[in-house]
Amino acid sequence: MNQILLNQIKKDFLENNPKFVAAKNVHPLEQRIVLKNYQVIDPESILEYIANDGYQGISKALTMSPKEVINEITISKLRGRGGVGFPTGLKWKFALGYESDDKYVICNADEGEPGTFMDRHILEGDPHNNIEGMMIAGYAIGASKGYIYVRAEYPLAASRLQKAIDDALELKILGDNIFDTDFSFNIEIRLGAGAFICGEETALMESIEGKRGLSRNKPPFPAQIGLFAQPTIINNVETIANVSSIILNGGEWYSKIGTEKSTGTKVFSLSGKTKNKGIFEVPMGITLYDVIYKIGGGMSEGSTFKAAFTGGPSGGVLTKDHLDTIIDFDSLVELGSIMGSGGIIIADQNDCIIDTIKHFMKFNAEESCGKCTPCREGTTILYNMLDDITKGKSSLEDLEKIKHLSKMVSTTSLCGLGQAAPAPIFSALTHFYDEFIDHIEHKTCKTGVCSMPVKGGE
Ligand SMILES: Cc1cc2nc3c(=O)[nH]c(=O)nc-3n(C[C@H](O)[C@H](O)[C@H](O)COP(=O)(O)O)c2cc1C
Repeated sequence: MNQILLNQIKKDFLENNPKFVAAKNVHPLEQRIVLKNYQVIDPESILEYIANDGYQGISKALTMSPKEVINEITISKLRGRGGVGFPTGLKWKFALGYESDDKYVICNADEGEPGTFMDRHILEGDPHNNIEGMMIAGYAIGASKGYIYVRAEYPLAASRLQKAIDDALELKILGDNIFDTDFSFNIEIRLGAGAFICGEETALMESIEGKRGLSRNKPPFPAQIGLFAQPTIINNVETIANVSSIILNGGEWYSKIGTEKSTGTKVFSLSGKTKNKGIFEVPMGITLYDVIYKIGGGMSEGSTFKAAFTGGPSGGVLTKDHLDTIIDFDSLVELGSIMGSGGIIIADQNDCIIDTIKHFMKFNAEESCGKCTPCREGTTILYNMLDDITKGKSSLEDLEKIKHLSKMVSTTSLCGLGQAAPAPIFSALTHFYDEFIDHIEHKTCKTGVCSMPVKGGE
């Protein structure tokens, strides 16, 4: 394969398929970069991908030096979409800086957080775009091998990825001496067995190595000592899905979309009590109001907005006072929440905040890898203490113990799971303290969800 042949394939396809146009059915607030091919091309057709400028990004990247590629990503100010928002260009620069014959690129498609389903749709809808992004990342850091770690519960994503890899190999887009250069790259799929912790980058590497998914100490960071102890970059599906468009259109173009510190677009998954649910892609900086009342079409029949949970079991809760808040990496942190990887769950008057965060804590306790004591023991104890609150068995003194233990778990846990597990408690205490008082002091629950009398009832 080379650039001339790639252009010829595109030309032939478009001539033979004159009706092939990007059939767009998107909300006016949306801007699609990651989802540009979503429900537009047949995800199982490499020809349709090529016809829509597919593999032009890697073709262009190969005319640049690895440093120039990384520079373009740096200029774009792309930040990782896996939840932490780490600058992608900087991560790649670190990995390029470490000498090794073997380096690795990992695409993190574990997506285990409740209420998130963006990555699944991105992969199912446009698998070639992720393969192309991984190739560009591999070229930029000097890696010739990539792994896509997909959760086994996403069989369609995995099978479409495998077909995309096979088709790209057949057309000699993947493999040896790509586009007649010295660059060679291969990709393998690894299936995860449904453990949330295996989305954490170091546990994920353990899992690929065939070991139990336990987090590693950091430092050393994966860019230095990663998979099989070699320099490795791990990026989220959506991060990688931005890469080819950035290379094609330039980092400057991307940096002008979104907000100053959170550039580009973000794919969100919306669920809960809004009329519309599903995924959408908007420039960073959309307000919570627009998410609920424009994209979400308003609250469901009979529902009144009460709260928005962002960042799932590692995040926080926003209230009606925050409807004008913009959603990006930094603004939500200021409010004690996080954007996380982009899951937004909308709650109404029938949802109990304490009951919801109790379920988040149950999830964290069950998903803790058990390697470090604060997370293994602390999340279970916190769950039991929250459970007691929902059963009317707690005192204000217990609430103080919960706060104390939450601080301890978040500051002493080994990895992000334990460090962030108490976050919903802190956030609920800030914004819904009255519900704690209802449950603890008055032994009532406004919503009737908990096993205690309804506030204002008999
Ligand atoms: C418990 C836990 C689960 C995680 N799960 C995921 C995941 O499913 N997908 C993901 O991309 N990142 C996940 N992360 C974040 C990764 O550790 C890592 O930061 C991310 O893959 C880096 O990619 P990015 O720089 O593109 O965001 C998780 C982190 C923790 C602590």
